[in-house]
Amino acid sequence: MKRLLLIALLTQAVLTVNTQTSTAQERKEYLLSKGWAFTRGEQTDAANPAFDDKKWETVTIPHDWAITGPFDGNNDVQKVKIEQNGEKNATVKSGRTGGLPFIGIGWYRLKFSAPQFAAGKKASLIFDGAMSNAKVYINGKEVGMWPYGYNSFHFDVTNFLKPGADNILAVRLENKPESSRWYPGAGLYRNVHLVVTNDAHIPVWGTYVTTPVIEKDFARVQVQTQISASSFKPLKLVTSITDPQGKTVAEGSSALAATDLNTFSQSIAVKNPQLWSPETPVLYTATSKVYDGSKLVDEYTTKFGIRTIKFEAGNGFFLNGKARKFKGVCNHHDLGPLGAAINKAALRRQLTILKDMGCDAIRTSHNMPAPELVELCDEMGFMMMVESFDEWKTPKVKNGYSQYFDQWAEKDIVNMVHRDRNHPSVIMWSIGNEVPDQGAKNGQKIAKFLQDICHREDPSRPVTVGMDRIDAALTNNFAAVMDIAGFNYKPARYEEANLKLPQGFILGTETASTVSSRGVYKFPVEFFKEKMYDDNQSSSYDFEACPWSQVPDDEFVKQDDIKFVIGEFVWTGFDYLGEPTPYDTKWPSHSSYFGIIDLAGLPKDRFYLYRAKWNTEKPTLHVLPHWTFPGREGQITPVFCYTSYPSAELFVNGKSMGKQEKSKTNNQTRYRLMWKDVVYQPGNIKVVAYDANGKVAAEQTIKTAGKPHHIELIADRSTLDADGKDLSYITAKVCDANGNLCPDATNLLSFKVTGAGTYKVVANGDATNVQPFHQPQMNAFSGMLVATVQSAEKPGKIEFTASAKGLKSGVIALNSK
Ligand code: GAL
Repeated sequence: MKRLLLIALLTQAVLTVNTQTSTAQERKEYLLSKGWAFTRGEQTDAANPAFDDKKWETVTIPHDWAITGPFDGNNDVQKVKIEQNGEKNATVKSGRTGGLPFIGIGWYRLKFSAPQFAAGKKASLIFDGAMSNAKVYINGKEVGMWPYGYNSFHFDVTNFLKPGADNILAVRLENKPESSRWYPGAGLYRNVHLVVTNDAHIPVWGTYVTTPVIEKDFARVQVQTQISASSFKPLKLVTSITDPQGKTVAEGSSALAATDLNTFSQSIAVKNPQLWSPETPVLYTATSKVYDGSKLVDEYTTKFGIRTIKFEAGNGFFLNGKARKFKGVCNHHDLGPLGAAINKAALRRQLTILKDMGCDAIRTSHNMPAPELVELCDEMGFMMMVESFDEWKTPKVKNGYSQYFDQWAEKDIVNMVHRDRNHPSVIMWSIGNEVPDQGAKNGQKIAKFLQDICHREDPSRPVTVGMDRIDAALTNNFAAVMDIAGFNYKPARYEEANLKLPQGFILGTETASTVSSRGVYKFPVEFFKEKMYDDNQSSSYDFEACPWSQVPDDEFVKQDDIKFVIGEFVWTGFDYLGEPTPYDTKWPSHSSYFGIIDLAGLPKDRFYLYRAKWNTEKPTLHVLPHWTFPGREGQITPVFCYTSYPSAELFVNGKSMGKQEKSKTNNQTRYRLMWKDVVYQPGNIKVVAYDANGKVAAEQTIKTAGKPHHIELIADRSTLDADGKDLSYITAKVCDANGNLCPDATNLLSFKVTGAGTYKVVANGDATNVQPFHQPQMNAFSGMLVATVQSAEKPGKIEFTASAKGLKSGVIALNSK
């Protein structure tokens, strides 16, 4: 099974279940977003329809009840020994889960009507994710529960709804202390949908589209369509396939026989298929129309892509027949200052930034993603490793998933696979991350059990797991069982592991874990493990890592030199709330330092190290540090350059410091150019990059900044959709009179938004900052911060102003249509 799976040419397609486009009378989807009542704490009788919730807060879903804080080091304080980090003694970790008040009970109530629902109709309630331990009630009756906060789940609520009347939906959630290693968020943080259909209908996640045969001039699209109906009917299914331009390119029609067990199997040929890849994210749409006689009873759309994947011993990974390596990042699910509350515009912005870096893959560490992320990866071109768990039977945290594993693991994997198995972006499933069961007796049996479920539900994709206990995993068959052996932080052992394992290729499921703070430079510039400074920051010279982790260059070497290493997923693309290593015990640190991009979404220097290597379309030239170090006059202040060009020359106040060339033999100077002996004097530094022919290709100059003078504003998008959800991210820079960034500025900036939008949140990327994200003011960090403006539902002009005492304000105009 495994071998077959690995050598098979595989392809995928998609259903987006949340077809908000579904306007057909046969199927109606309601997004249950507005007008919810919410309160914290246990409530007696809140499921009762007669309960009075007038005093509760009114909220819109998606909603994260904890993100507004306040931050407090006593929230979910965990006295633990983190074994996977090699800790020998338990210590008090204050910001491990972000220092936000997510623990406890929360209740949501919604009065809704579903005019389409009538006798004989069917209704399903879908939660994209609810954090956590959801118990769902309709009209006072318990509908069901789902413990795992990251998974999507759904219930048939036909027998709970009242036709033609108001219904009361109540949801009780509960987050336990010591249940997570990072900030999980709290509440109905993803969308909730109600879908009303006829009796005979395609159920939730009811299509499965694969493309088992892809030739140059045609692809065979295999569509399996489930039918749910209270009794057998000889229904007819017409599936039409449209290309990205909306042109119908193929159609299949079939009748349901009693022996089909309510599943249509259709094989439809698409001529001259356009293949999906990160560079060509081409999506097709399958429209399934179900007929009872001549009457249309259901219509359902499934987006999919046509592409092949292959993993080959010795040669690695192939997409559409071309070898490539995953240039991936791991991300947690939070959206920085927005918390866990999902927002498509925020996700799109993250992916836009990652795309510019040349990143082509995302690992949804360590849990199921929001459906919107998977849709965006399809559309924008990212390959995905969709991951399920951070622990199995053996706990990492006292109240974690291990409590549910025996009863829920299979159900959780099934939902993960069913929801996302049509998406071309999803290349592999991951059944876990650094699970301590790697070393436990029978750990390999659990791995096989979970992998088999993935294969059963989706034979078209391989399965991986992120392993850290390499010695155990190599000797007890744990690593050998997996389709893809994935190692976390083990570049030094890839060759050895490959010799011991049967697969013939290895994936860096988690790599680097370098720590840095944007714009902060520490001296002397040396390689350090677990280095701490009094200000709780890490140096942006990118030489600092953890005892178990590495600087990016160490992984690059192995990725470049070993053919059977199929790529890496860097820990992490974006900084996230919680896990403030190396300052886990040093409040007020409460968000990570691992990100290539900070919590505000601003690239750190490291961004350009990756970009120089990964973005093969556009050149990169980036010089660090800044050049404003009052008091460092006469002291050694190294200058680094991250560039896609082979060599560059540094000039300090016009004087050449010599040319540096990327080394072919020395791994330390293979990916970065370094002038380590530069003596600081105010003025300017300039790097001039030379191409392979030695010709000047580009240059960059950084000047010593004067006093803060004005605020410069840059919006990532100046035209928004007037849908009440769209976001513009406005970067504010404190500049001197000549427009140079003041790299140490910490001015307190205040914001005002007028017109067709509202102020949403702000972040400055400082992992120690406990100023609340939702207040319209914050101090700049390393001279910058990012404020977010949300569109209203009415179109119009929006004006955003940032002001600070003693500085000229910044004003920027946006348009919402
Ligand atoms: C890994 C773990 C991640 C994160 C990371 C920090 O061991 O899988 O979740 O904790 O370390 O370096």
